[in-house]
Amino acid sequence: HHPCHSVDFCVFGWMGSDIISTVEFNHTGELLATGDKGGRVVIFQREQESKNQPHRRGEYNVYSTFQSHEPEFDYLKSLEIEEKINKIRWLPQQNAAYFLLSTNDKTVKLWKVSERDKRPEGYNLKDEDGRLRDPSMITMLRVPVLRPMDLMVEATPRRVFANAHTYHINSISVNSDYETYMSADDLRINLWNFEITNQSFNIVDIKPANMEELTEVITAAEFHPHHCNTFVYSSSKGTIRLCDMRASALCDRHSKFFEEPEDPSNRSFFSEIISSISDVKFSHSGRYIMTRDYLTVKVWDLNMENRPIETYQVHDYLRSKLCSLYENDCIFDKFECVWNGSDSVIMTGSYNNFFRMFDRNTKRDVTLEASRENSKPRAILKPRKVCVGGKRRKDEISVDSLDFSKKILHTAWHPSENIIAVAATNNLYIFQDKVN
Ligand SMILES: *[C@@H]1O[C@H](CO)[C@@H](O)[C@H](O)[C@H]1NC(C)=O
Ligand SMILES: *[C@@H]1O[C@H](CO)[C@@H](O)[C@H](O)[C@H]1NC(C)=O
Ligand SMILES: *[C@@H]1O[C@H](CO)[C@@H](O)[C@H](O)[C@H]1NC(C)=O
Ligand SMILES: *[C@@H]1O[C@H](CO)[C@@H](O)[C@H](O)[C@H]1NC(C)=O
Repeated sequence: HHPCHSVDFCVFGWMGSDIISTVEFNHTGELLATGDKGGRVVIFQREQESKNQPHRRGEYNVYSTFQSHEPEFDYLKSLEIEEKINKIRWLPQQNAAYFLLSTNDKTVKLWKVSERDKRPEGYNLKDEDGRLRDPSMITMLRVPVLRPMDLMVEATPRRVFANAHTYHINSISVNSDYETYMSADDLRINLWNFEITNQSFNIVDIKPANMEELTEVITAAEFHPHHCNTFVYSSSKGTIRLCDMRASALCDRHSKFFEEPEDPSNRSFFSEIISSISDVKFSHSGRYIMTRDYLTVKVWDLNMENRPIETYQVHDYLRSKLCSLYENDCIFDKFECVWNGSDSVIMTGSYNNFFRMFDRNTKRDVTLEASRENSKPRAILKPRKVCVGGKRRKDEISVDSLDFSKKILHTAWHPSENIIAVAATNNLYIFQDKVN
Protein backbone atom coordinates (compact mmCIF):
# COMPACT_ATOMS: atom_id res chain seq x y z
CA HIS A 1 0.00 0.00 0.00
CA HIS A 2 1.19 3.50 -0.78
CA PRO A 3 2.00 5.87 2.08
CA CYS A 4 -0.68 8.33 0.91
CA HIS A 5 -3.02 7.85 -2.00
CA SER A 6 -1.36 11.02 -3.16
CA VAL A 7 1.17 8.94 -5.10
CA ASP A 8 -1.63 8.11 -7.52
CA PHE A 9 -1.95 11.73 -8.55
CA CYS A 10 -1.98 12.34 -12.26
CA VAL A 11 -0.49 15.40 -13.77
CA PHE A 12 -1.44 18.29 -15.96
CA GLY A 13 1.19 20.92 -16.65
CA TRP A 14 1.04 24.50 -17.86
CA MET A 15 3.89 26.89 -18.52
CA GLY A 16 3.42 30.58 -17.90
CA SER A 17 5.67 33.37 -19.04
CA ASP A 18 6.70 34.56 -15.63
CA ILE A 19 7.43 33.24 -12.14
CA ILE A 20 4.20 32.25 -10.42
CA SER A 21 3.88 34.03 -7.08
CA THR A 22 0.53 32.78 -5.76
CA VAL A 23 -2.06 30.03 -6.42
CA GLU A 24 -5.63 29.90 -5.10
CA PHE A 25 -8.73 27.75 -5.77
CA ASN A 26 -12.15 29.36 -5.44
CA HIS A 27 -14.48 28.02 -2.77
CA THR A 28 -15.82 25.15 -4.85
CA GLY A 29 -12.57 24.43 -6.67
CA GLU A 30 -13.97 24.97 -10.17
CA LEU A 31 -11.74 27.98 -10.70
CA LEU A 32 -8.04 28.30 -9.96
CA ALA A 33 -6.27 31.65 -10.02
CA THR A 34 -2.54 32.24 -10.28
CA GLY A 35 -0.68 35.52 -9.94
CA ASP A 36 2.81 36.13 -11.28
CA LYS A 37 5.85 38.32 -10.96
CA GLY A 38 4.76 40.35 -13.98
CA GLY A 39 1.52 41.44 -12.28
CA ARG A 40 -0.70 39.13 -14.32
CA VAL A 41 -3.56 36.99 -13.09
CA VAL A 42 -4.41 33.80 -14.98
CA ILE A 43 -7.65 32.01 -14.11
CA PHE A 44 -8.20 28.37 -15.01
CA GLN A 45 -11.58 26.70 -15.16
CA ARG A 46 -12.25 23.03 -14.70
CA GLU A 47 -13.68 21.24 -17.72
CA GLN A 48 -17.18 19.92 -17.24
CA GLU A 49 -17.30 16.17 -16.88
CA SER A 50 -18.17 14.48 -20.15
CA LYS A 51 -19.43 10.93 -20.65
CA ASN A 52 -17.49 10.30 -23.87
CA GLN A 53 -14.18 11.53 -22.49
CA PRO A 54 -14.09 10.37 -18.90
CA HIS A 55 -10.29 10.64 -18.74
CA ARG A 56 -10.62 14.36 -19.25
CA ARG A 57 -12.38 14.58 -15.92
CA GLY A 58 -11.57 17.88 -14.38
CA GLU A 59 -8.84 19.17 -16.64
CA TYR A 60 -8.26 22.85 -16.04
CA ASN A 61 -8.08 25.22 -19.00
CA VAL A 62 -7.26 28.90 -19.20
CA TYR A 63 -10.44 30.88 -18.65
CA SER A 64 -9.23 34.46 -18.35
CA THR A 65 -5.92 36.34 -18.25
CA PHE A 66 -5.55 39.95 -17.24
CA GLN A 67 -2.99 42.46 -16.03
CA SER A 68 -3.82 43.19 -12.42
CA HIS A 69 -0.92 45.42 -11.34
CA GLU A 70 1.59 47.59 -13.19
CA PRO A 71 5.06 48.63 -12.02
CA GLU A 72 4.95 51.99 -10.24
CA PHE A 73 7.37 54.46 -8.80
CA ASP A 74 7.09 56.00 -5.37
CA TYR A 75 8.60 59.45 -5.99
CA LEU A 76 8.53 60.41 -2.34
CA LYS A 77 10.78 57.54 -1.33
CA SER A 78 12.48 57.02 -4.70
CA LEU A 79 11.41 53.42 -4.64
CA GLU A 80 10.25 51.10 -7.35
CA ILE A 81 6.97 49.36 -6.52
CA GLU A 82 6.98 45.92 -8.07
CA GLU A 83 3.92 44.68 -9.93
CA LYS A 84 4.37 41.16 -8.54
CA ILE A 85 1.11 39.66 -7.20
CA ASN A 86 1.74 38.62 -3.59
CA LYS A 87 -1.66 37.10 -2.84
CA ILE A 88 -5.04 36.37 -4.43
CA ARG A 89 -8.22 35.68 -2.46
CA TRP A 90 -11.60 34.75 -3.95
CA LEU A 91 -14.86 36.12 -2.68
CA PRO A 92 -17.75 33.69 -2.51
CA GLN A 93 -19.92 33.90 -5.60
CA GLN A 94 -23.06 36.01 -5.13
CA ASN A 95 -24.25 36.57 -8.68
CA ALA A 96 -23.24 35.51 -12.18
CA ALA A 97 -19.86 37.25 -11.87
CA TYR A 98 -16.79 36.16 -9.89
CA PHE A 99 -14.88 38.50 -7.63
CA LEU A 100 -11.31 38.26 -6.39
CA LEU A 101 -8.85 40.39 -4.48
CA SER A 102 -5.27 40.64 -5.68
CA THR A 103 -2.44 42.53 -4.05
CA ASN A 104 1.12 43.57 -4.76
CA ASP A 105 3.36 45.17 -2.09
CA LYS A 106 1.21 48.29 -1.73
CA THR A 107 -2.19 48.16 -3.38
CA VAL A 108 -5.10 45.74 -3.11
CA LYS A 109 -7.55 45.52 -6.03
CA LEU A 110 -11.00 44.00 -6.27
CA TRP A 111 -11.58 42.43 -9.69
CA LYS A 112 -14.85 41.40 -11.25
CA VAL A 113 -14.64 38.57 -13.78
CA SER A 114 -17.77 38.12 -15.85
CA GLU A 115 -18.92 36.32 -18.96
CA ARG A 116 -20.66 37.80 -21.96
CA ASP A 117 -22.19 35.69 -24.72
CA LYS A 118 -24.78 38.15 -26.06
CA ARG A 119 -24.46 41.49 -27.76
CA PRO A 120 -27.13 44.16 -28.02
CA GLU A 121 -27.98 45.17 -31.57
CA GLY A 122 -30.33 47.70 -33.12
CA TYR A 123 -29.68 50.86 -31.11
CA ASN A 124 -31.59 53.90 -32.25
CA LEU A 125 -29.01 56.64 -31.75
CA LYS A 126 -25.84 54.80 -32.78
CA ASP A 127 -24.85 52.22 -35.37
CA GLU A 128 -23.40 48.75 -34.72
CA ASP A 129 -19.86 50.16 -34.41
CA GLY A 130 -20.92 52.66 -31.77
CA ARG A 131 -20.83 55.77 -34.01
CA LEU A 132 -23.64 58.24 -33.47
CA ARG A 133 -26.20 58.25 -36.24
CA ASP A 134 -27.28 61.42 -37.96
CA PRO A 135 -30.54 62.33 -36.12
CA SER A 136 -32.16 63.54 -39.32
CA MET A 137 -31.82 60.00 -40.71
CA ILE A 138 -33.64 58.43 -37.79
CA THR A 139 -37.18 58.00 -39.02
CA MET A 140 -38.47 55.09 -36.96
CA LEU A 141 -37.99 53.66 -33.52
CA ARG A 142 -36.31 50.25 -33.25
CA VAL A 143 -36.38 47.84 -30.36
CA PRO A 144 -32.80 46.72 -29.58
CA VAL A 145 -32.31 42.94 -29.39
CA LEU A 146 -29.67 40.68 -27.80
CA ARG A 147 -27.85 38.47 -30.30
CA PRO A 148 -25.66 35.51 -29.32
CA MET A 149 -21.91 35.89 -29.82
CA ASP A 150 -18.75 33.96 -28.89
CA LEU A 151 -18.25 33.75 -25.15
CA MET A 152 -16.11 36.57 -23.85
CA VAL A 153 -14.66 36.74 -20.35
CA GLU A 154 -13.99 40.23 -19.09
CA ALA A 155 -12.07 41.31 -16.01
CA THR A 156 -12.80 44.77 -14.69
CA PRO A 157 -11.24 46.47 -11.66
CA ARG A 158 -14.10 47.36 -9.32
CA ARG A 159 -12.20 48.85 -6.37
CA VAL A 160 -8.64 49.97 -5.71
CA PHE A 161 -7.55 50.03 -2.07
CA ALA A 162 -4.40 52.14 -2.07
CA ASN A 163 -2.27 54.36 0.17
CA ALA A 164 -2.75 52.48 3.42
CA HIS A 165 0.51 50.53 3.69
CA THR A 166 3.97 51.94 4.33
CA TYR A 167 5.56 48.49 4.33
CA HIS A 168 5.11 45.48 2.06
CA ILE A 169 1.76 43.69 2.12
CA ASN A 170 2.31 40.00 2.86
CA SER A 171 -1.28 38.81 3.41
CA ILE A 172 -4.89 39.54 2.58
CA SER A 173 -7.78 37.64 4.13
CA VAL A 174 -11.52 37.86 3.48
CA ASN A 175 -13.63 37.88 6.63
CA SER A 176 -16.46 35.36 7.05
CA ASP A 177 -18.91 38.30 7.17
CA TYR A 178 -17.95 38.82 3.48
CA GLU A 179 -18.24 42.56 4.02
CA THR A 180 -14.71 43.20 5.22
CA TYR A 181 -11.20 41.95 4.64
CA MET A 182 -7.81 42.65 6.14
CA SER A 183 -4.42 43.42 4.65
CA ALA A 184 -1.21 42.90 6.63
CA ASP A 185 2.23 44.37 6.08
CA ASP A 186 5.47 43.99 8.07
CA LEU A 187 4.26 46.18 10.93
CA ARG A 188 0.55 46.84 10.57
CA ILE A 189 -2.75 45.16 9.83
CA ASN A 190 -5.64 47.12 8.31
CA LEU A 191 -9.32 46.25 8.12
CA TRP A 192 -11.29 47.33 5.03
CA ASN A 193 -14.89 47.41 4.01
CA PHE A 194 -15.29 46.19 0.41
CA GLU A 195 -17.37 49.26 -0.43
CA ILE A 196 -14.99 51.87 0.99
CA THR A 197 -11.64 52.50 -0.64
CA ASN A 198 -10.61 55.80 0.90
CA GLN A 199 -10.53 54.61 4.49
CA SER A 200 -9.35 51.59 6.45
CA PHE A 201 -9.10 50.80 10.14
CA ASN A 202 -5.77 49.98 11.64
CA ILE A 203 -6.30 46.93 13.85
CA VAL A 204 -2.70 45.97 14.66
CA ASP A 205 0.32 48.26 14.85
CA ILE A 206 3.60 46.87 16.18
CA LYS A 207 5.77 49.73 14.91
CA PRO A 208 7.97 50.83 17.80
CA ALA A 209 8.30 54.57 18.43
CA ASN A 210 11.98 54.17 17.70
CA MET A 211 12.63 51.96 14.68
CA GLU A 212 15.97 50.93 16.16
CA GLU A 213 14.06 48.96 18.76
CA LEU A 214 12.41 46.87 16.08
CA THR A 215 12.92 43.17 16.86
CA GLU A 216 9.94 41.49 15.25
CA VAL A 217 7.84 41.81 12.09
CA ILE A 218 4.46 40.46 11.02
CA THR A 219 4.89 37.68 8.46
CA ALA A 220 1.33 36.45 7.76
CA ALA A 221 -2.25 36.98 8.93
CA GLU A 222 -5.58 35.27 8.47
CA PHE A 223 -9.19 35.53 9.64
CA HIS A 224 -10.87 32.65 11.43
CA PRO A 225 -13.00 30.76 8.87
CA HIS A 226 -16.24 31.11 10.88
CA HIS A 227 -15.81 33.68 13.67
CA CYS A 228 -15.70 37.10 12.05
CA ASN A 229 -14.20 38.77 15.14
CA THR A 230 -11.16 36.48 15.38
CA PHE A 231 -7.91 36.49 13.43
CA VAL A 232 -4.31 35.35 13.86
CA TYR A 233 -1.00 36.77 12.81
CA SER A 234 2.45 35.23 12.87
CA SER A 235 5.81 36.83 13.41
CA SER A 236 9.44 36.57 12.47
CA LYS A 237 10.12 35.31 16.00
CA GLY A 238 8.12 32.15 15.46
CA THR A 239 5.14 33.27 17.51
CA ILE A 240 1.43 33.44 16.69
CA ARG A 241 -1.05 35.86 18.20
CA LEU A 242 -4.79 35.35 18.17
CA CYS A 243 -6.78 38.56 18.42
CA ASP A 244 -10.41 39.29 19.16
CA MET A 245 -11.75 42.46 17.56
CA ARG A 246 -14.57 42.57 20.10
CA ALA A 247 -12.06 43.20 22.87
CA SER A 248 -10.88 46.56 21.54
CA ALA A 249 -10.66 48.50 18.30
CA LEU A 250 -6.88 48.30 18.21
CA CYS A 251 -5.86 44.69 18.78
CA ASP A 252 -2.40 45.40 20.13
CA ARG A 253 -3.19 43.12 23.01
CA HIS A 254 -3.60 39.58 21.80
CA SER A 255 -6.05 37.22 23.47
CA LYS A 256 -3.87 34.16 22.89
CA PHE A 257 -0.16 33.79 22.31
CA PHE A 258 1.25 30.60 20.83
CA GLU A 259 4.92 29.87 21.24
CA GLU A 260 7.07 26.79 21.63
CA PRO A 261 9.97 27.08 24.03
CA GLU A 262 13.20 26.55 22.15
CA ASP A 263 15.15 23.33 22.60
CA PRO A 264 18.49 24.66 23.98
CA SER A 265 20.41 21.79 22.40
CA ASN A 266 19.35 23.00 18.93
CA ARG A 267 20.38 26.61 19.51
CA SER A 268 22.59 28.08 16.79
CA PHE A 269 23.35 31.30 14.97
CA PHE A 270 20.46 30.46 12.61
CA SER A 271 17.84 29.59 15.26
CA GLU A 272 16.01 32.87 15.02
CA ILE A 273 16.03 32.97 11.22
CA ILE A 274 14.73 29.44 10.79
CA SER A 275 12.02 29.89 13.42
CA SER A 276 10.48 32.80 11.50
CA ILE A 277 6.98 31.79 10.38
CA SER A 278 6.42 32.12 6.65
CA ASP A 279 2.75 31.12 6.55
CA VAL A 280 -0.20 30.64 8.89
CA LYS A 281 -3.48 28.89 7.98
CA PHE A 282 -6.60 28.05 9.96
CA SER A 283 -7.95 24.55 9.39
CA HIS A 284 -11.31 24.45 7.57
CA SER A 285 -12.90 23.44 10.89
CA GLY A 286 -11.42 26.49 12.63
CA ARG A 287 -10.10 24.33 15.48
CA TYR A 288 -6.42 24.29 14.50
CA ILE A 289 -3.84 26.58 13.04
CA MET A 290 -0.92 25.44 10.95
CA THR A 291 2.34 27.33 10.66
CA ARG A 292 5.30 26.85 8.37
CA ASP A 293 8.82 27.80 9.39
CA TYR A 294 12.01 27.06 7.46
CA LEU A 295 12.38 23.41 8.45
CA THR A 296 9.01 22.35 9.83
CA VAL A 297 5.22 22.54 9.69
CA LYS A 298 3.45 22.76 13.02
CA VAL A 299 -0.18 22.24 13.96
CA TRP A 300 -1.50 24.11 16.97
CA ASP A 301 -4.72 23.52 18.84
CA LEU A 302 -6.46 26.83 19.55
CA ASN A 303 -6.86 25.62 23.12
CA MET A 304 -3.18 24.99 23.76
CA GLU A 305 -0.75 27.87 23.56
CA ASN A 306 2.50 26.48 24.96
CA ARG A 307 3.39 24.00 22.25
CA PRO A 308 2.14 22.64 18.91
CA ILE A 309 0.23 19.36 18.98
CA GLU A 310 2.05 18.14 15.89
CA THR A 311 5.41 18.96 14.30
CA TYR A 312 6.40 17.65 10.87
CA GLN A 313 9.95 17.78 9.53
CA VAL A 314 9.87 19.05 5.95
CA HIS A 315 13.55 18.69 5.08
CA ASP A 316 15.50 18.15 8.27
CA TYR A 317 18.53 17.10 6.20
CA LEU A 318 19.08 20.82 5.52
CA ARG A 319 19.94 21.43 9.17
CA SER A 320 23.59 20.75 8.38
CA LYS A 321 23.47 23.04 5.34
CA LEU A 322 22.17 26.20 6.99
CA CYS A 323 25.44 28.00 6.49
CA SER A 324 25.39 27.74 2.71
CA LEU A 325 21.63 28.34 2.64
CA TYR A 326 22.31 31.56 4.48
CA GLU A 327 25.00 32.56 2.05
CA ASN A 328 22.79 32.03 -1.00
CA ASP A 329 19.81 33.69 0.79
CA CYS A 330 17.65 30.56 0.51
CA ILE A 331 17.22 30.57 4.27
CA PHE A 332 14.90 33.56 3.79
CA ASP A 333 12.60 31.71 1.35
CA LYS A 334 8.95 31.93 2.36
CA PHE A 335 7.32 28.55 1.98
CA GLU A 336 3.54 28.35 2.27
CA CYS A 337 1.46 25.46 3.58
CA VAL A 338 -2.07 24.16 2.93
CA TRP A 339 -4.63 21.75 4.39
CA ASN A 340 -6.62 19.30 2.32
CA GLY A 341 -10.40 19.60 2.36
CA SER A 342 -10.89 17.46 5.45
CA ASP A 343 -7.89 18.85 7.38
CA SER A 344 -6.41 15.36 7.47
CA VAL A 345 -3.46 15.97 5.14
CA ILE A 346 -0.96 18.83 5.05
CA MET A 347 1.06 19.90 2.03
CA THR A 348 4.06 22.20 1.77
CA GLY A 349 7.00 22.79 -0.53
CA SER A 350 10.74 22.23 -0.50
CA TYR A 351 13.72 22.49 -2.87
CA ASN A 352 14.57 20.59 -6.04
CA ASN A 353 10.89 20.98 -7.07
CA PHE A 354 9.97 18.60 -4.26
CA PHE A 355 6.86 18.99 -2.19
CA ARG A 356 5.78 17.09 0.88
CA MET A 357 2.53 15.68 2.21
CA PHE A 358 1.88 14.61 5.77
CA ASP A 359 -1.05 12.44 6.70
CA ARG A 360 -2.06 13.50 10.20
CA ASN A 361 -3.90 10.28 11.01
CA THR A 362 -1.50 7.65 9.77
CA LYS A 363 1.59 9.84 10.41
CA ARG A 364 2.89 8.80 7.02
CA ASP A 365 4.56 11.28 4.74
CA VAL A 366 5.63 11.41 1.13
CA THR A 367 7.96 13.50 -1.02
CA LEU A 368 6.81 14.16 -4.58
CA GLU A 369 8.42 16.00 -7.45
CA ALA A 370 6.87 18.49 -9.85
CA SER A 371 8.93 18.32 -13.00
CA ARG A 372 8.57 18.45 -16.77
CA GLU A 373 10.09 15.00 -17.22
CA ASN A 374 7.48 13.10 -15.27
CA SER A 375 4.64 15.41 -16.17
CA LYS A 376 3.36 13.42 -19.13
CA PRO A 377 -0.42 13.49 -18.94
CA ARG A 378 -1.76 10.84 -16.60
CA ALA A 379 1.70 9.68 -15.57
CA ILE A 380 1.82 8.58 -11.97
CA LEU A 381 4.03 10.42 -9.53
CA LYS A 382 6.73 8.33 -7.94
CA PRO A 383 7.67 9.15 -4.37
CA ARG A 384 11.18 10.59 -4.07
CA LYS A 385 13.71 10.05 -1.35
CA VAL A 386 16.60 12.22 -0.27
CA CYS A 387 19.55 10.33 1.11
CA VAL A 388 21.51 11.76 3.99
CA GLY A 389 25.12 10.66 3.97
CA GLY A 390 26.24 7.07 3.64
CA LYS A 391 25.32 4.86 0.74
CA ARG A 392 22.90 6.19 -1.81
CA ARG A 393 20.43 3.70 -3.12
CA LYS A 394 19.19 3.73 -6.70
CA ASP A 395 16.28 6.20 -7.05
CA GLU A 396 17.57 8.25 -4.14
CA ILE A 397 18.98 11.72 -4.50
CA SER A 398 21.79 12.97 -2.33
CA VAL A 399 21.44 16.18 -0.33
CA ASP A 400 24.42 17.62 -2.16
CA SER A 401 22.80 17.32 -5.57
CA LEU A 402 19.55 19.09 -4.65
CA ASP A 403 18.89 22.13 -6.83
CA PHE A 404 18.16 25.06 -4.51
CA SER A 405 17.06 27.31 -7.35
CA LYS A 406 14.06 25.06 -7.95
CA LYS A 407 11.73 25.72 -5.05
CA ILE A 408 8.07 25.12 -4.47
CA LEU A 409 6.81 28.01 -2.40
CA HIS A 410 3.14 28.11 -3.41
CA THR A 411 0.63 25.29 -3.52
CA ALA A 412 -3.15 24.95 -3.24
CA TRP A 413 -5.51 22.07 -2.44
CA HIS A 414 -8.96 21.77 -3.98
CA PRO A 415 -11.54 22.38 -1.21
CA SER A 416 -13.35 19.05 -1.58
CA GLU A 417 -11.36 16.74 -3.84
CA ASN A 418 -7.87 15.36 -4.16
CA ILE A 419 -6.70 17.88 -6.71
CA ILE A 420 -3.64 19.98 -5.97
CA ALA A 421 -1.98 22.87 -7.75
CA VAL A 422 1.76 23.28 -7.39
CA ALA A 423 3.72 26.28 -8.66
CA ALA A 424 7.31 25.51 -9.66
CA THR A 425 8.87 28.77 -10.91
CA ASN A 426 6.95 29.53 -14.12
CA ASN A 427 5.28 26.13 -14.35
CA LEU A 428 1.95 25.28 -12.82
CA TYR A 429 1.27 21.62 -12.18
CA ILE A 430 -2.15 20.32 -11.38
CA PHE A 431 -2.15 16.82 -9.97
CA GLN A 432 -5.27 14.85 -9.39
CA ASP A 433 -6.17 11.54 -7.89
CA LYS A 434 -5.95 8.77 -10.44
CA VAL A 435 -9.11 8.05 -12.41
CA ASN A 436 -9.90 4.35 -12.18
C1 LIG B 1 -16.30 28.75 -8.07
O1 LIG B 1 -16.33 28.89 -9.48
C2 LIG B 1 -17.38 28.23 -10.17
C3 LIG B 1 -17.24 28.54 -11.65
O2 LIG B 1 -16.64 27.57 -12.42
C4 LIG B 1 -18.73 28.68 -9.69
O3 LIG B 1 -19.77 27.93 -10.31
C5 LIG B 1 -18.80 28.55 -8.18
O4 LIG B 1 -20.02 29.09 -7.74
C6 LIG B 1 -17.63 29.24 -7.51
N1 LIG B 1 -17.76 28.95 -6.08
C7 LIG B 1 -17.88 29.88 -5.14
C8 LIG B 1 -18.21 29.40 -3.78
O5 LIG B 1 -17.72 31.05 -5.37
C1 LIG C 1 -14.52 58.80 1.64
O1 LIG C 1 -15.36 59.09 0.55
C2 LIG C 1 -16.72 59.35 0.91
C3 LIG C 1 -17.54 59.49 -0.37
O2 LIG C 1 -16.83 60.09 -1.38
C4 LIG C 1 -16.78 60.61 1.78
O3 LIG C 1 -18.12 60.87 2.17
C5 LIG C 1 -15.92 60.38 3.00
O4 LIG C 1 -15.87 61.55 3.80
C6 LIG C 1 -14.51 59.98 2.62
N1 LIG C 1 -13.77 59.58 3.81
C7 LIG C 1 -12.54 60.02 4.06
C8 LIG C 1 -11.92 59.54 5.33
O5 LIG C 1 -11.93 60.73 3.31
C1 LIG D 1 16.03 19.70 17.37
O1 LIG D 1 16.65 19.02 16.28
C2 LIG D 1 16.18 17.71 16.03
C3 LIG D 1 16.94 17.08 14.88
O2 LIG D 1 18.05 17.75 14.50
C4 LIG D 1 14.70 17.74 15.68
O3 LIG D 1 14.23 16.46 15.49
C5 LIG D 1 13.95 18.43 16.82
O4 LIG D 1 12.59 18.53 16.46
C6 LIG D 1 14.52 19.80 17.09
N1 LIG D 1 13.84 20.39 18.22
C7 LIG D 1 13.12 21.48 18.12
C8 LIG D 1 12.40 21.94 19.35
O5 LIG D 1 13.02 22.09 17.08
C1 LIG E 1 -8.34 15.34 1.80
O1 LIG E 1 -9.63 15.81 1.94
C2 LIG E 1 -10.56 15.33 1.01
C3 LIG E 1 -11.83 16.10 1.21
O2 LIG E 1 -12.32 16.02 2.51
C4 LIG E 1 -10.72 13.85 1.21
O3 LIG E 1 -11.71 13.34 0.34
C5 LIG E 1 -9.41 13.26 0.89
O4 LIG E 1 -9.44 11.87 1.04
C6 LIG E 1 -8.31 13.86 1.70
N1 LIG E 1 -7.08 13.54 1.05
C7 LIG E 1 -6.24 12.63 1.49
C8 LIG E 1 -5.01 12.47 0.68
O5 LIG E 1 -6.43 12.02 2.53
